[in-house]
Amino acid sequence: MKFWLKIFLLNTLLLTVLTIMILLGVRQVVTTSLRAEQTRYGLTLARNLADRIADQVLQNESFQTESAIKSSLGSDADLKYAFVAGLDGKIFAHTFGNDYPSGLEEWNPTGNHEETVQLLATETGNIRDVGVKIFYGLPAELHLGLKETRITATLERLRNSIVTGSGIAILVALLLSLLFNRYLTKPLNQLMSHTEALIRGEFGGRVGFSGHGEFGELAATFDVLSQELAVSRQRAEESLRQMLRTEKLSALGQLSAGLAHEIRNPLTSIKILFQSFLESSLPTRRDLEVVLSETERMETLLKQFLAFTHIEEATPKAVNLYEQIQHVLHICHYQMTRQEIEVRTDFEPMPPIMADRAMIEQVFLNLIMNAMEVMPEGGSIDISGSVTAGNLVEVRVRDNGGGIPGEIRDKVFDPFFTTKEEGTGLGLSVTYNIVEHFGGFVDFCCEDGGTTFIVSFPAATWPHSEDSGAYHGA
Ligand SMILES: Nc1ncnc2c1ncn2[C@@H]1O[C@H](COP(=O)(O)OP(=O)(O)O)[C@@H](O)[C@H]1O
Ligand SMILES: [Mg+2]
Repeated sequence: MKFWLKIFLLNTLLLTVLTIMILLGVRQVVTTSLRAEQTRYGLTLARNLADRIADQVLQNESFQTESAIKSSLGSDADLKYAFVAGLDGKIFAHTFGNDYPSGLEEWNPTGNHEETVQLLATETGNIRDVGVKIFYGLPAELHLGLKETRITATLERLRNSIVTGSGIAILVALLLSLLFNRYLTKPLNQLMSHTEALIRGEFGGRVGFSGHGEFGELAATFDVLSQELAVSRQRAEESLRQMLRTEKLSALGQLSAGLAHEIRNPLTSIKILFQSFLESSLPTRRDLEVVLSETERMETLLKQFLAFTHIEEATPKAVNLYEQIQHVLHICHYQMTRQEIEVRTDFEPMPPIMADRAMIEQVFLNLIMNAMEVMPEGGSIDISGSVTAGNLVEVRVRDNGGGIPGEIRDKVFDPFFTTKEEGTGLGLSVTYNIVEHFGGFVDFCCEDGGTTFIVSFPAATWPHSEDSGAYHGA
């Protein structure tokens, strides 16, 4: 429920209850005083009339008595009836006409008292019966019946005021709630949406209202907080950029040092060979083969080293992994046949990824070459492709070449780490860098008698209309 609506309901409830309570209180006071007033009035009227008819009652003149009480009945709208009991206590004169109610003497007898007042509930509403003794100590008495017409009318007017009052209370509540909404809920809502923006990481914004009250102060505090967060994030980002730059530079330095070290060996052997050519006989075929293989080794090293530096220049395009892997398999086909390696592929339909085609080929060439190199006596390579629940395109390359020994598992991605005589140790580190550059990740697991390398990339929007087709599968 909206905050302002809650306030409205609360206001309405409070104001209505208060109004009704006040009006009911007033009604009570008014009713009591009106009734007291009517009682006083009735008693005075009865006393006066009793004085006037005393002689006639004494002389037993019922006709004169009746006309006297009838005339006073006509002079007052609230007077409903009057009757007189004679000296014997029997009804002696009355204003009921022919419809003379029986047991009239029992309605409100004065008994031992000089006067008596009683509220009688009749079919036509409440009637206040006022009885007075006409003579002290004698049974003769006069009774007047007073209707509550005036009191009822006044009370009706009061009831109308209660209804109008409640209506006005609700209106006032609505107005108050709208005011509350303007001055309380609105700033609160603004603060809330500002807080949500902060949670989303949108720092540096302003709450957008000012003022002197608590809300103004709170808004100002929020603004300062937001600004400080923006500044500190900027600083953090800057220092992260700096850190990455330094790290990249140092990695490049290490890599260059490693490369220089790797190149020095083949260069030295070529140099020694050429010196021996100068000093003695012509080079043999074996010498030339050594020079060639050492040069090739340096070429491979340089090629792989360049792959590191070229990553930054690549512009990602939609790449179909299935097609690139087929291409790599085609390149390796001759060597695989020679080594008696069987290749099995199993691809689900997969969306393209955003990367560089040549580099993706390099990734899978490195993995497939490594697999081939651990199975010189033959074996099998299983390559499968699928899409994970997290919309990642995942490729698994599995060999049965014995697995990676436990003690070197945390080193295989290091540059220049190799266990092969002719290895460069750059294949997996280049692979790692390329995959990470395009937002993916690479890992491996070792099962019984083999290794599975798992490479995954975030899928580009699927289906993808341009470039290498929507998707491909086996
Ligand atoms: N499929 C594999 N099975 C067993 N060991 C592997 C496999 N792939 C890589 N390795 C290990 O990781 C090392 C590093 O591989 P890599 O970086 O490609 O360099 P290189 O192939 O030049 O040695 C390899 O020398 C090897 O010991
Ligand atoms: Mg390798």
